[in-house]
Amino acid sequence: MSNVDPSRTFNLGDRSVRRLGYGAMQLAGPGVFGPPKDHDAAVAVLREAIAKGVNHIDTSDFYGPHVTNQLIREALHPYPEDLVIVTKIGARRGADKSWNPAFSREELTAAVHDNLRNLGVDVLDVVNLRIMFDVHGPAEGSIEAPLAVLADLQRQGLVRHVGLSNVTRKQIVQGRAITEIVCVQNQYNLAQRKDDALIDDLAREGIAYVPFFPLGGFTPLQSSILSDVAARLGASSMQVALAWLLQRASNILLIPGTSSLGHLRENLAANGLALGDADVAELDGIAGSVA
Ligand SMILES: NC(=O)c1ccc[n+]([C@@H]2O[C@H](COP(=O)([O-])OP(=O)(O)OC[C@H]3O[C@@H](n4cnc5c(N)ncnc54)[C@H](OP(=O)(O)O)[C@@H]3O)[C@@H](O)[C@H]2O)c1
Repeated sequence: MSNVDPSRTFNLGDRSVRRLGYGAMQLAGPGVFGPPKDHDAAVAVLREAIAKGVNHIDTSDFYGPHVTNQLIREALHPYPEDLVIVTKIGARRGADKSWNPAFSREELTAAVHDNLRNLGVDVLDVVNLRIMFDVHGPAEGSIEAPLAVLADLQRQGLVRHVGLSNVTRKQIVQGRAITEIVCVQNQYNLAQRKDDALIDDLAREGIAYVPFFPLGGFTPLQSSILSDVAARLGASSMQVALAWLLQRASNILLIPGTSSLGHLRENLAANGLALGDADVAELDGIAGSVA
């Protein structure tokens, strides 16, 4: 039976997706590099996500590299009609597992073709341009040249919709003058709330906001406030972290990452968890306590 409440949806371009999706990055090997520790478990996680009603998967060909896209294709191709796969370009991996900018026309074009081939599709649903002026967070700088290349690939029919990742408000404004931007993917969670005002602005514009590291990333969130609220509600801390994001704004789409079937089921069950005003007020204190 589906775990994901079909009434909670938001548009990614011309497609409506359920707000609780899945992020595939954790399926690659340690350091998001090389094959998974347990290949069959990775395939099972992807199939279970779809069986439980997920119709939005976030990936990139630089996870592995190529590994997560190839796993997605193996597990799910031919894809369900309602599935929207969002990928990203703009980085390349070094042999030392480093993340390096890859913004030349040649690199961006090759990245789109790598994604098409490894996912086994003729057109990519959504491609995020991942900005790399600072790999760890948004930093100012013009995104015009690389975004113009992606817009060209869109005009050629290889990319349906375009999004931006790791960007400032100024870069979003610049991007929207070049092509339609359907989603923004930045780091945001209970403890990292620099984008609070941006999220509300994007909601008014009908643009999806897709927080990466919704659970805190490689070291999941830990907070006594979070565990106290979770204990009171009879839920797990990760479920409360996701429920808080779902209630935070209607344009937030979730892509929690996991390589574990148990965690996947737990995370998808967050859809049924309602937080009261007092819970939200308490949870809002987490950002202040870690700032
Ligand atoms: N645009 C960007 O720059 C960018 C950057 C990073 C990530 N992303 C995207 O965002 C997605 C989500 O980010 P993320 O996967 O890095 O971080 P995340 O979703 O915040 O957290 C993933 C971590 O939490 C653990 N976890 C998941 N569910 C859990 C649960 N119920 N209980 C305890 N631990 C749990 C996972 O380990 P287990 O595997 O053991 O469950 C993993 O270590 C990625 O998959 C990727 O698609 C984008």
